[in-house]
Amino acid sequence: MAVGKMKKMRPYSPGQGRLLIHKYYWPLTGVLIVAVVGIIAYLSMSTHDHISGGRFVGFVGPGKCKQCHRKQYDSWQKTRMANSFDVLKPGVKAEEKRMAGLDPVKDYTGEETCLSCHTTGYGLAGGFVSIEKTPEMAGVTCESCHGYGGTYVNSVMDPKKPMFSTAAARESGLVYPPREKVCRSCHNERSPFFGMHYKFDYEERVKLGTHQHFQLKYEHGK
Ligand code: HEC
Ligand code: HEC
Ligand code: HEC
Ligand code: HEC
Repeated sequence: MAVGKMKKMRPYSPGQGRLLIHKYYWPLTGVLIVAVVGIIAYLSMSTHDHISGGRFVGFVGPGKCKQCHRKQYDSWQKTRMANSFDVLKPGVKAEEKRMAGLDPVKDYTGEETCLSCHTTGYGLAGGFVSIEKTPEMAGVTCESCHGYGGTYVNSVMDPKKPMFSTAAARESGLVYPPREKVCRSCHNERSPFFGMHYKFDYEERVKLGTHQHFQLKYEHGK
């Protein structure tokens, strides 16, 4: 910024004047840069602190959403998607697996090809790594449908300013409402269960598969 300002000043400051500006502005520019970098580092450290203990993450996990959305959380926990990691275990859904050409006694819980759809954020910042390291990210959690929370939780979505607009939340990363395209990122032909007769009717599946919906306290707009 300071460099930009200096350039602007150039045409107006002949010879000596220009040198003087260099002399006095360069140390100032240095101090400014150090200060700005310091402030940015401090701010990013403190915002990520309360999200995940100082680690930079994209995903915050359903436990975080639960703090403010208890009803949705409780209802979501009972859905098949919340527990979709369990079906990767050996012996579970054996008949279904056999019919889809999978090995019913095999342990698929570490299988990369399955994890992208049966966990949240696999391979992404803050997302699923393994059941031992990131148990909270197993299954299809809030952020699979609503987008990763690191960008909107505790910034736009702040209980002290609960009247934010949906547009502002969306701008910072909230996916709301999640439409058919979001579901199709997993409900597609890469799934071993996507057979000739596979049908995905959005309206019907939203009622079946997501959490119960509750009236929000405030109007947030479209
Ligand atoms: C592209 C995403 C995707 C991938 C990859 C994927 N799945 Fe799934 N899986 C799904 C979806 C979506 C369903 C739910 C299907 C439905 O009922 O609509 C499902 C359902 C299942 C079920 C339950 C079937 C039933 O009828 O109850 C099992 C078991 C399963 N998957 C195992 C696996 C295994 C093992 C792998 C890896 C070899 C795998 N999946 C890879 C998306 C995927
Ligand atoms: C991250 C991947 C992923 C996303 C995104 C996703 N699903 Fe699923 N869904 C799954 C998996 C995996 C299962 C299988 C769970 C099981 O059977 O254990 C499943 C199962 C379901 C089921 C239960 C199966 C049945 O036939 O009743 C419904 C309903 C469903 N999803 C609806 C949706 C809807 C609606 C959306 C979008 C709003 C959506 N899903 C988004 C992965 C996903
Ligand atoms: C499978 C996708 C999916 C998952 C997983 C999911 N949601 Fe939703 N969520 C939706 C859909 C779809 C809507 C409703 C959009 C509409 O009204 O058309 C919604 C709506 C909401 C709303 C608005 C109020 C309401 O009750 O409708 C909140 C808050 C919310 N979800 C929070 C959560 C939280 C917290 C979690 C995890 C505990 C979660 N969601 C998990 C799909 C999902
Ligand atoms: C610190 C509190 C807090 C946390 C944590 C939080 N939210 Fe929210 N959220 C809010 C508030 C406040 C509202 C507005 C509630 C109302 O109007 O009743 C809201 C509204 C929403 C809505 C509706 C948005 C709209 O424009 O209508 C969705 C969807 C949602 N939250 C999803 C999530 C998800 C997913 C997570 C976790 C990644 C999460 N929230 C974490 C406070 C929070």
